[in-house]
Amino acid sequence: MAVNLVVGTQWGDEGKGKIVDYFSKDADYVVRFQGGNNAGHTIKVEDQVYKLHITPSGVIQGKIGVIGNGCVIDPDVLIKEIDELTKRGIKPKVLISDRANIIMPYHKILDGAEEKFLGNKKIGTTKRGIGPCYSDKISRNGIRAIDIIDRETLSKKLDTILAIKIRIFDAYKIDEKLDKKEILETYSYFGEQLRNLITTTHVELNMAINSGKNILLEGAQGTMLDVEYGTYPYSTSSHTVAGGASTGTGIGPKHIDDIIGIVKAYTTRVGEGPMPTELFDEEGKHLSEKGREIGTTTSRPRRCGWLDLIVVKHSCMISGITKLAITKLDVLEGLKKVKICTGYRLNGKKIDFFPANIEQVSRCEPIYEEFDGWNKINANSMKLADLPENAQTYLKLIEKELRTPIALVSIGPGRKETIEF
Ligand code: GDP
Ligand code: IMO
Ligand code: MG
Repeated sequence: MAVNLVVGTQWGDEGKGKIVDYFSKDADYVVRFQGGNNAGHTIKVEDQVYKLHITPSGVIQGKIGVIGNGCVIDPDVLIKEIDELTKRGIKPKVLISDRANIIMPYHKILDGAEEKFLGNKKIGTTKRGIGPCYSDKISRNGIRAIDIIDRETLSKKLDTILAIKIRIFDAYKIDEKLDKKEILETYSYFGEQLRNLITTTHVELNMAINSGKNILLEGAQGTMLDVEYGTYPYSTSSHTVAGGASTGTGIGPKHIDDIIGIVKAYTTRVGEGPMPTELFDEEGKHLSEKGREIGTTTSRPRRCGWLDLIVVKHSCMISGITKLAITKLDVLEGLKKVKICTGYRLNGKKIDFFPANIEQVSRCEPIYEEFDGWNKINANSMKLADLPENAQTYLKLIEKELRTPIALVSIGPGRKETIEF
């Protein structure tokens, strides 16, 4: 029996989908514990590419995909994703926590309105209604999965909640009307479609642990988007760090074994907010083009920069990461020099921690270690020694600085382009 956890250590898009799919071979259940369809997790198997937003990545390997209570679910997106996978010959086995919050139409409208209101101070959200849905959960105005399969409860809750939303719509001068009848019909219909999947997943998962089954917990986003430890307020609204896995699934912390931190070999970020190692030159262009750094969910170009170990060190500490998986090492090939940030300079002084004050973060100047680059990585590499010597030096510095062992290196998007140590 093992309960392992995969988390992103940067600003998301580290390759979690690929790595979760890879480790799913040994899992019975693969569980999302936070976030919603702001995530975009890519899995490539032979010539087939799957982009999953809310369905757990383990369904591609035929494992049971659980959407935990810590997630927010847009039922329309989930139903379409399940349908599309079914059409492509994958029969996804999905279970939904009865306690997960549901993204409602007004959440999506408010996400857009809040961003518009913020103007040049906007967060750059995915506009999927994530922030407003989590806000309602915390302020106890949420609709949960269990509510959409009971028309009467849903109707009563909508009476209270819509009265509040109408006032907020007025304040934002939003023209769209909230039609209770239409929302009730649509969401009762979604409830009927999903009824058989909505269950007490926390009970099923704990029973699975007791009977020796293997569970893989799949994080979305990354530490720097965490609502507490990320670049707040330029963050998402959930707990993306390892601690979120316990509250987001109902699996007690004592059950969790390995915590695998996914580290992209360089840094990317989508949306607004500071990113100390961002590049605006030819090297940045190399990362963007060779790494095909276009957002999986919103198709926005991702900002690119050198690997920032202050960021990853912060993640290792907060999540108690036990193993590292390095992704996209192949993207660095062909660069004459490669750099790793091992410290920041702030107000003329060297610091080696990530500041809470966002204005300070935007003034941090990275301190780099520079290495000679390498040419082509052999796609058939099976072990560390098969990689170019300079790439090995690069990996060794990461291990040394983070004091955490590398368990896996990914050298391409495909399932097989993976070296496990
Ligand atoms: P996630 O959100 O963390 O699951 O990451 P995304 O799927 O949004 O973005 C990662 C992108 O990099 C996807 O297009 C993957 O197919 C791709 N990818 C993953 N690992 C590798 C790798 O080792 N090398 C290359 N070249 N691409 C990779
Ligand atoms: P995966 O799981 C990268 C970013 C958005 C924005 C901020 C807040 O694929 O790594 P939100 O819609 O959550 O309120 O947006 O968070 N963001 C992501 N960036 N990868 C993601 O998910 C992201 N999910 C949200 O771009 O800056
Ligand atoms: Mg992604």
